Amino acid sequence: MSGTGPTRIGVLLSGRGSNFLALHDAMARGTIPAQIALVASNVDGAVGLSRAEALGLETLSLPHRPFGRGPKGRRAHDTRMVRALLDAEVDWVCLAGYMRILSPVLVAAFPRRILNIHPSLLPSFPGLDAQQQALDHGVRVSGCTVHLVDEGLDSGPIIEQRTVPVLDGDDAETLSRRILVEEHRAYSAALTRVLSETWRIEGRRLVFGNADGQR
Ligand code: GRF
Repeated sequence: MSGTGPTRIGVLLSGRGSNFLALHDAMARGTIPAQIALVASNVDGAVGLSRAEALGLETLSLPHRPFGRGPKGRRAHDTRMVRALLDAEVDWVCLAGYMRILSPVLVAAFPRRILNIHPSLLPSFPGLDAQQQALDHGVRVSGCTVHLVDEGLDSGPIIEQRTVPVLDGDDAETLSRRILVEEHRAYSAALTRVLSETWRIEGRRLVFGNADGQR
């Protein structure tokens, strides 16, 4: 942890970074009691990285390919990523469209201090193309989930969920757009809660408040 200053967040992303921007905006407004210490990506030239640079934030491009394939390559890449996060004195990590499964190295370096946002109501439709999975299944309601990251795929304790209707005539793009609006709200709300409130894990559940029921 970084001592007495504001909580330091490391953001990992692979794409356009709209969730990262939503978090950044909420921090700038003072809604989230934290600051972004590093924005890192496994994709060289990710739009989210340029957006972070334009905001004057610390950035790191760390493509995963040179580290090799398979669990060994994943571990080596994550080890380097952990070093960068620790060098930046990051307390919490927010995955914001980071298209990599984390190795145990990264998960263990920030135990219960990694958040992810997923565009479905977990545990339905984990993994890739969650919005298309929801459409294919024919659900009438979908949404997004912010959760703590464990070593599974989109499987850690849930912090926050928001719903949106699935409308007749939706395709993956229209549904994704509707969900994304809620993602931006949900991510800021979830991060604010875990940083500001007392919470504990009971089984699979993240429960806010002390064991005696007080906040
Ligand atoms: C979001 O839909 C997020 O839920 C998913 O990847 C997308 C990233 O979008 N994990 P953005 O890069 O934050 O705009």
